[in-house]
Amino acid sequence: MFTCWAEGLQSSSSFHFWATLNIHAIQTAKMVGGLLASVSITELLLASVVFCLIFWVIESHSQKVPKGLKPVPGPWAWPLIGNILTLGKNPHLALAQLREKYGDVMQIQIGSTPVLVLSGLETVRQALVRQGEDFKGRPDLYSFSLVTDGYSMSFNPDSGEVWAARRKLAQNALNTFSVASSPSSTSCYLEEHVKKEGECLIQKFQELMDTVGRFDPYNHVVVSVANVIGAMCFGQCHANENQELMSIITKSHEFVEGASSGNPVDFIPILRYFPNSKLQRFKEFNQKFLKFMQKTVQEHYKDFDQNNIQDITGALFKHSQDKTQGNTGTSVPKILITNLINDIFGAGFDTVTTAISWSLMYLVINPEVQKKIQKELDTVIGRDRRPRLTDKPQLPYLEAFVLEIFRHTSFVPFTIPHSTTRATTLNDFYIPKGICVFVNQWQVNHDEKLWGDPSAFRPERFLSADGTINKNLSEKMLLFGMGKRRCIGETIARWEIFLFLAILLQQLEFSVPSGVKVDLTPTYGLTMKHPRCEHFQARQRFSSH
Ligand code: HEM
Repeated sequence: MFTCWAEGLQSSSSFHFWATLNIHAIQTAKMVGGLLASVSITELLLASVVFCLIFWVIESHSQKVPKGLKPVPGPWAWPLIGNILTLGKNPHLALAQLREKYGDVMQIQIGSTPVLVLSGLETVRQALVRQGEDFKGRPDLYSFSLVTDGYSMSFNPDSGEVWAARRKLAQNALNTFSVASSPSSTSCYLEEHVKKEGECLIQKFQELMDTVGRFDPYNHVVVSVANVIGAMCFGQCHANENQELMSIITKSHEFVEGASSGNPVDFIPILRYFPNSKLQRFKEFNQKFLKFMQKTVQEHYKDFDQNNIQDITGALFKHSQDKTQGNTGTSVPKILITNLINDIFGAGFDTVTTAISWSLMYLVINPEVQKKIQKELDTVIGRDRRPRLTDKPQLPYLEAFVLEIFRHTSFVPFTIPHSTTRATTLNDFYIPKGICVFVNQWQVNHDEKLWGDPSAFRPERFLSADGTINKNLSEKMLLFGMGKRRCIGETIARWEIFLFLAILLQQLEFSVPSGVKVDLTPTYGLTMKHPRCEHFQARQRFSSH
């Protein structure tokens, strides 16, 4: 047949080309024939089964898109592992890169699970705020089942009435014992605790300067921040006097690496059964944390007096004694109420510590920025009194610095994964029910269209011409999520970070000796940490009264 076809083409000017092709085709056909002859029926059958299986996997994973809607674009994925190799060690960067090609709504595959990736401020706002009901779910991930033995509010597939009632309870209890004013003074609980802990931190840094002459601030900052959230949760907290608590708060990296978006064990089940030190550390951290919190809550229950509620745990106990809770009147089991303390304490110490610690790192490599903050503090507050939360509107440069730390580090690169609660559409793409959703906060904070020069660290970008905070731009910075799952500790976090930094920087000037290289390479995780630096120095700016 091939020869006849070639004969018919002899008169054509491209005869030479076709003749060559013809010879190759004959050789290939002979080779295939030879191969087939050496393959047994069993092997042939096996090959067809494998072929059918692959076809079935591809077919069952291909989206069935209703008419008029577009399928979500995305990169080609390997069978079984999907795009895991593309994600690499820094999925937020890899996905920001892929977004350039595929757009704000993109689908990748991890293992054989499809994951929707959202980028671009307007697309994220559309999904999480305007279509908040559709996107408020959480996926059923293996790592979630290890947090608080599966009873966490934040890391849990529940997004129904019970979740809503728990969230409301946690929010109310948190606000009452943080930003609401304390009955015993003119300031709020948060301000009282930060004032006390800020002074202790200054004293600690001074002691270390007098003895060792240098220090690594991280482990001292985490104690102060844990004491603040601990005091709000339990009335008082002295982390450095409790070895068990110290071994938890100084090891939160074990939690954040395991709880990171795209952790392979969440998508490739077989990996849970292989030796995996990261997973082991994550499991042990969660068990240790849960045990400690349960013990502390139980001890606290001994002196619970429902007529004298002093802290968040007390407020949660009181609710758990009522038959129905929350505005919806939904009944929430007692265990799900007292367990809320784990979510609050866990989120409350790690995130704020990470933010303050990043701030100190940026201050020592940007001494001119530190000087500007101190000049503002000297002008507005002077040296005779300590900074207060009410000073915040008069300290726009400090606030701009914190905003730029949030944006530039984007140390919470993705929100906690979401999932869709029903089939929906987004930017004309069809989105199925129950798909896992990653929201790339890092990409939004480094979008050239929004920020112009995203890689430059420039607090001034958040200031208007009149020196006040540019509200419009500050609202484009995305670090606390948006919509129905937005962080419930956002106000506390912003106020706490601001006040700690104001108190520290009024009195101390931080530096590292010349020649010391400060490494700012983040380690990927739910929160991203910087490498530790033990060469910090602090100089007292003036003698305190
Ligand atoms: C700078 C500090 C903080 C940052 C950057 C931060 C960021 C976030 C982010 C990105 C989420 C997930 C949002 C989503 O899934 O869409 C979240 C959730 C949450 N945050 Fe924060 N957070 C901070 C501080 C705090 C503090 C101080 C607390 C409590 C005292 C807290 C409590 C929570 C809780 C309970 C959730 C889960 C909400 C839910 O699933 O409904 N966070 N936070």
